[in-house]
Amino acid sequence: MPNIVIVGAQWGDEGKGKVVDVITPHFDVVVRYQGGNNAGHTVVVGREKFVLQTIPSGILHPGCRNIIGCGVVVNPASLIDEMESLVQRGVSLDGNLYISKNAHVIMPYHPALDRASESKAGKHRIGTTGKGVGPAYVDKTARVGIRMADLLDERLLREKLEYNVAQKNRLLREIYDAESFAVDNILSAYLRYAGWLAPYITDTALLIHRWMEAGSSVLFEGAQGTMLDLDHGTYPFITSSSTTAGGACTGSGVPPTRIHGVIGISKAYCTRVGNGPFPTELSGDTADLLRMRGNEFGSVTGRPRRCGWVDAVGLRYATRINGLTGLIVTKLDVLTGIDQLNVAVRYRGPEGASFDEFPYHQSILHKAEGEYIPLPGWDEDISGARSLEELPQNARAYLDYISDFLGIPVVMVGVGPGRDEMIWTGAAERVRPAAA
Ligand code: IMP
Repeated sequence: MPNIVIVGAQWGDEGKGKVVDVITPHFDVVVRYQGGNNAGHTVVVGREKFVLQTIPSGILHPGCRNIIGCGVVVNPASLIDEMESLVQRGVSLDGNLYISKNAHVIMPYHPALDRASESKAGKHRIGTTGKGVGPAYVDKTARVGIRMADLLDERLLREKLEYNVAQKNRLLREIYDAESFAVDNILSAYLRYAGWLAPYITDTALLIHRWMEAGSSVLFEGAQGTMLDLDHGTYPFITSSSTTAGGACTGSGVPPTRIHGVIGISKAYCTRVGNGPFPTELSGDTADLLRMRGNEFGSVTGRPRRCGWVDAVGLRYATRINGLTGLIVTKLDVLTGIDQLNVAVRYRGPEGASFDEFPYHQSILHKAEGEYIPLPGWDEDISGARSLEELPQNARAYLDYISDFLGIPVVMVGVGPGRDEMIWTGAAERVRPAAA
C-alpha cells in the first residue's frame, strides 16, 4: 500500500488540511511530523469549519488512526483544548489518536521567549506566530528539552524543569526585561496535562512500523511549507522545523525506503505571512483582490497575508528539494476575473542578474523580483466545476503551463473551500515513481 507525503510547496497556508481531509479515505493512518500549534489546518465539512493546530486532519474521519510524531513540538494546553473542542463537536478520539513519547513539549517559557526576542529584534524580527515553537526547537537541539514521556515521570520532570527555569528566568529577566516563571506553578499545571494525555503517549514509530507491516497505508501531513524549512527555506525568515519531505522520515521514525510518493500543495497564486523575501509579491488592487477573495488572513494569528503571483521558480525548487511526484493546486477560483495572470519563471536580481534557480544567497533573494510569462485569465464562475473538462480552456492552460514547467502532473485542483470543490484530474495514479 502506498505511503505518501503531503508538503506545502510555498510559504504555508496552501490548503494542506483540506487536501489531507479529502484524500484520507484512501489511507489508514495520518501522521503529523513537524511544527506545532503555529499551524492552522482549516477543514470545511458541510457548513462546519474546523481549524486543527496539532492534531492531524485525519481525525475528522472515523476509523483513521492519527499520529502526532516525534518531530512535532506539543503545547499540551492547546492540544487538550483542541481535543475537547473536537469531542464537543462529536468527533471521537478513542483509539485513533497517538502522541509520540519523543515529541518535545512547549513549556510556558517558550512563548514568553519567542515574544520577548521578537520584541527586541528590530529589523531582524521574523514575524513569528509567538507560539514558542522556535524556542522549543532550540531546547530540543540544545539537548535540554522536555519530551512527552518526561511528563509521565514527576521526578525527572521536576529535575529538568528546575534546570530549564533557572536558565530561562535569567534570560528573560536579564536580557529581555520580561517576567520570569516559578517551577512549582509549571509543574502542577503540566502534571495535570500529563494525567489527561497519558493514555495517548506511546512509541508511535513502533506503531507505524507494525501497521505498515500489516499493510496499512500512511499519509504524512506536513505543516508550513518548503520555503519555511529550517535548511532549505528563506533562512532566517523561516520556521524552526524540517517542513520538507525529509522531515516526514525524521519526524515520524519511518525510513525513506517506505515512502512511495510526495505531493506538493500550492495555491494558484502565492501568499506569505510574516517577514522575509517574497519575489512575486504584489501591492495595490490585485493584492487586495487576492487577499479579500481568498480570505488571506492567518488562521492562527489573524494577520493579513502578503499576496503575489504564483512563483514557478520557487515551485520548481520545491519539486527538486521534496522530490515531488505530483502537485495539487488550490484556490483556482480566486483568480477568476483577473484579465492577465502572471507566472514567475525566472528572477531578476540586483544589477540585472537573472536567476533560473532559487538564488543561493539571502541578500540576492531579498532583492529578487519575478520575471513573468503572462497568461490569459477567465471570467466564468468555476466554483461549480466538478471535472477538469468543466473548467474554462484558459484555466486548464494555466494549470498545464505550471505542470509542464515543473515536469510533474497536477493531480487535484481546488475551486472552492469545501471537500466537494476539489477536482481529481485523473493523474493520481502517476504520483508514485516508476520504481515504487
Ligand atoms: P514560527 O513558526 O511561529 O516560529 O514563525 C516563523 C515564521 O513561519 C513566521 O514567518 C510565521 O509567519 C511563519 N509560519 C509559521 N507557521 C505558519 C503557518 O502555519 N502558515 C504560514 N506561515 C507560518
